[in-house]
Amino acid sequence: MTAPTPPVRLAVLASGAGSNLQAIIDHLDALGAARAAEVVLVASNRADAGALARARARRIAATVIADPADGRALARLLDAHRVELIALAGYLKLVPHEVTERWSGRIVNIHPALLPGFGGPGMYGRRVHEAVIAAGQRESGATVHQVDDAYDRGAIVAQERVPVEPGDTPESLAARVLGAEHRLYPRTLQALALALATSN
Ligand code: GRF
Repeated sequence: MTAPTPPVRLAVLASGAGSNLQAIIDHLDALGAARAAEVVLVASNRADAGALARARARRIAATVIADPADGRALARLLDAHRVELIALAGYLKLVPHEVTERWSGRIVNIHPALLPGFGGPGMYGRRVHEAVIAAGQRESGATVHQVDDAYDRGAIVAQERVPVEPGDTPESLAARVLGAEHRLYPRTLQALALALATSN
């Protein structure tokens, strides 16, 4: 099936290795003409972020965000690329209100736990999985949620559950959850883009 309109213009904000970005790029590529979104910009608060290198390798605009707290500058960058949908993928900075307001309903994040539990300030990376294991949870997973002005608080869009296995370490659980992220995020973004394309 061919997507009905030009693909929705997607920006990915990342601070780290960019494995979620890569999963998104690869999934949309695999959809071919059926893709409802295309990554037109990758931006990072860190010049050495692996995500920027992955973008450059695919000839996608890759930009360093000089001041992540400067909402006007970030909005200008996004407007310069006519961005319609924003995906945070391991982006460790709060998004300024100017951007969360302008792109309200069209800015999402992936969190490596089953929100509303195990989220909020400081709950990222290894700490999330340590807390899940320490709490004796039998399940964890990945959550895609809307982004507002606080960490991990927006409406939940999609989740994928994974088991917590006996003897799991934060590292083994993180790897299992990351696999769920790589499945969930690209498909959720495709669905969001399809919904946007039909509502435009
Ligand atoms: C991962 O820890 C993931 O759980 C969370 O942020 C990190 C992103 O990793 N969403 P990557 O940069 O996408 O590889």
